[in-house]
Amino acid sequence: MKGIVLAGGLGTRLYPLTYATNKHLLPVYNKPMVFYPINTLVRAGITEILIVTSGPHSGDFISVCKNGKELGVTHLEYAYQERPNGGIADALSLAEDFADGENITVILGDNTTDVDIADSVTKFKKGALIFLKKTADRKQLKRFGVPVFDRNQRIVKIEEKPQEPKSNFVATGLYIYDNQVFDFIRLCKPSERDEIEITDVNNLYIKHRELNWVELQGFWSDAGTFETLYYANRYWAEKEGL
Ligand code: DAU
Repeated sequence: MKGIVLAGGLGTRLYPLTYATNKHLLPVYNKPMVFYPINTLVRAGITEILIVTSGPHSGDFISVCKNGKELGVTHLEYAYQERPNGGIADALSLAEDFADGENITVILGDNTTDVDIADSVTKFKKGALIFLKKTADRKQLKRFGVPVFDRNQRIVKIEEKPQEPKSNFVATGLYIYDNQVFDFIRLCKPSERDEIEITDVNNLYIKHRELNWVELQGFWSDAGTFETLYYANRYWAEKEGL
């Protein structure tokens, strides 16, 4: 399977840190943030990777990630999202040629996890698989995608940044898709925040009864706010024995 790291956007939540660099190149303990999602893919045996990036500092990715060899990547490509805040699904649409009709694993460039997803990657056949993380923190839930379940624990929809979260699960930025994903992206219209939302794409998979989920057992956090950037730094520093 091929992998895609979505590292576009402008990182405005982290101004002034991101005035002069890209969010995904900021440090999380002893590595640039983007190394973590790349490592998640490589750990799962995915070594052909596309990084989608954008914004004024996108050229710096090449100096940092180079050809990916030091990270265990065998083939590294880059794509440029021309509307830097066009949305996660807009960034993913740039991966269609790279995917070349095959299934893909997608991870957001500001997500860090120590969970090994190799088993899910190996077993995946078709449709979509999303990874959920349980949390009781209502404040966190309100800034993520949150699934709504029926009584059989099937997801009936995902709500993006709900005022009243209907479950205790976050839809993390880790997804496995079949090639239909690019057709579904084409069906999506910009949301209120003028982005093509990955949640809308996932809701189309739900409509076709082709979305499954698995719970991430382990550490997961984004690093896109001051709070979570600090939290991720602390976690990884402690894990590395600092
Ligand atoms: O982290 C998980 C969450 O990520 C999910 O729970 C949400 O459903 C999903 O919408 C997303 O929410 P955020 O509001 O946190 O997404 P954010 O705009 O911060 O973007 C996260 C990453 O996605 C970012 O680090 C790079 C990539 N991205 C984002 C945008 C808006 C792009 O590549 N291009 C974009 O245009």
